[in-house]
Amino acid sequence: MCGIVGYMGSSGVASILLSGLKCLEYRGYDSAGIAYINDGKLKVTKASGKLENLEKLLTSDRSSLLAVSGIGHTRWATHGVPNDINAHPHFNEDQSIAIVHNGIIENYAFIKEELEGQGFKFNSDTDTEVIVHLLTREYNLEKSMLKAITNTVKQLSGSYALGIISSHQKDTIYAVNHHYSLTLGQGDNEFFLASDIIAVRQYTNKVLRLDQSEIAQITKTDVSLYDFSGRQVKRDFITVDSDPYLINKDGYKHFLLKEIHEQPTILRQTIGKYMAHPTANLDFNIQPEPLANSSKTVAGIHLTKNDIAGIENILILACGTAYHAGMIGKYYLEQLCNIPVNIEIASEVRGRTLLVNEKTLVIAVSQSGETADTIAALTEAKRKGAYTLGITNRSDSHLTRIASNLIITECGVEVSVAATKTYIAQVVSFLMFALYLAQERSSLSQEYINNLKLELHSLPALVETVLANENIIKESSIKYAKANDMVFIGRGINYPTALEGALKLKELSYIHASGYAAGELKHGPIAVLDSSVPVVTILMPGSVYDKTLSNAQEARARNAQMIAVACSNDEKAPKYFDTILAVPPVDELLSPVLAVIPLQLFSYFISDYLGKDVDQPRNLAKSVTVE
Ligand code: M6R
Repeated sequence: MCGIVGYMGSSGVASILLSGLKCLEYRGYDSAGIAYINDGKLKVTKASGKLENLEKLLTSDRSSLLAVSGIGHTRWATHGVPNDINAHPHFNEDQSIAIVHNGIIENYAFIKEELEGQGFKFNSDTDTEVIVHLLTREYNLEKSMLKAITNTVKQLSGSYALGIISSHQKDTIYAVNHHYSLTLGQGDNEFFLASDIIAVRQYTNKVLRLDQSEIAQITKTDVSLYDFSGRQVKRDFITVDSDPYLINKDGYKHFLLKEIHEQPTILRQTIGKYMAHPTANLDFNIQPEPLANSSKTVAGIHLTKNDIAGIENILILACGTAYHAGMIGKYYLEQLCNIPVNIEIASEVRGRTLLVNEKTLVIAVSQSGETADTIAALTEAKRKGAYTLGITNRSDSHLTRIASNLIITECGVEVSVAATKTYIAQVVSFLMFALYLAQERSSLSQEYINNLKLELHSLPALVETVLANENIIKESSIKYAKANDMVFIGRGINYPTALEGALKLKELSYIHASGYAAGELKHGPIAVLDSSVPVVTILMPGSVYDKTLSNAQEARARNAQMIAVACSNDEKAPKYFDTILAVPPVDELLSPVLAVIPLQLFSYFISDYLGKDVDQPRNLAKSVTVE
């Protein structure tokens, strides 16, 4: 949420900051701005709306092209509506200090009252503006930017990252990280700063991630790190070689469509990483991988056979789509390993006693690895002595620093704000992990495990079959584009699929949609049904097929428009449904991976047909770093 960039070097600052902001636009796109030093003076340019508005302003501003130091920001509004005034950077009255901010200052109201009492004038509705006035007050006392910063951070509560520039110290920019993410990149007599390594990697592979509660003083030739008490800290830049950070649409109309189409490859990579071929042993004790965020190498599962045997219960923590993957994970872990599993929306854990202990395995699932609620809940679980496992797509993320065991999904960057490819990678990661635990705890026969491994390896080809029918799915989908409400129902392992289908439709098309356990329909939701409401039933073969079909009939009896995700060999489905989104026959345990693909396409085609902003839906951000 919100993206920060910075640059200190010798080339034109505007184009470098803009190019960094383009990489970070997924974090927020309400407004954007930059601040830079030119001719010894601090200048600020900002614009509400998408980044292109800022870009237009900057093309006619020669001074920003010549400047060599600056900071920039793309905003996802928390305090104050998206407009030019609330856009960052925020600056003080004599325009000598400007800052960009990511996060929330929890005690801003108190500080604001105090500063207003001392004569400071506020222009915006943001929590951010208190920081710039605090810095001004402290600078006036100390006559040192570094001291002003260390004095200021002591007065702030909350989690945040900052970029700071000042005409008091023209050859330096500052970065502050407090329980957030900021990465520095080292070039040739130049340094880059960004909330996400993606924006830095386009210029250099020498990176350094700021630690928690750390300040970086950045000049053209040097970076000095300090803790919040002002003590210098020594840490080196590390070289990251692999390049999973390249971003392009590869000819697809939208990133979302490209990412949906990448799913067979992603499945092959994710499955192949832990099980090279169908008869290979599942191996999570893979060679430790160097992680981009530190020199420590922790990827992989480091639980011993004894640890695994001693696990008494599991708690899964996640938000949004990752939560839906976690629900399927709960199903796998309970059915295959016989371990009781709880799952919590991470934000619901705050302010409650977390009932975990040394016999609990806590699994945090997060595509970005930066979701504030998930990180906070996992941190608390770790403090209480639980085993921790992170499932994430970002090996350079906050999550990888906390979790003692890691499964990194192999999806490359997911640019579209709506999660697709990372979801199916999380689901198969759960299945493989459950099989691994089952193998280590001997809770399943080897024959059963072997069969499932074979099925797993056949999944990518089955997903390809669904994608090959894309045009049929397109035709079927846009018939429903005029609906105001839709209902998704599923049972058992595909109840989460119904929730995920409804979430995708809401996010992408802004059509109101709700997912329900199919058996719950008659306990209330059925009241909303009539001939104007399409009902999407996830009708996969297996233990709950007949019951799901009965629940769908209840909807049909209320004249609802009937859509099913069903197997191509299902002979009953055509009798009861107006539209069938077909998938190939599949084992029940693997069916969530297949069933979600037509639902992703369904939402995509409706969104595109309605002319919505597919890759950057309104009000959303990819990385939700505020609680
Ligand atoms: O990065 P995370 O997986 O922790 O993100 C969790 C949710 O914010 C995310 O899944 C969100 O619901 C997506 N927009 C879903 O498409």
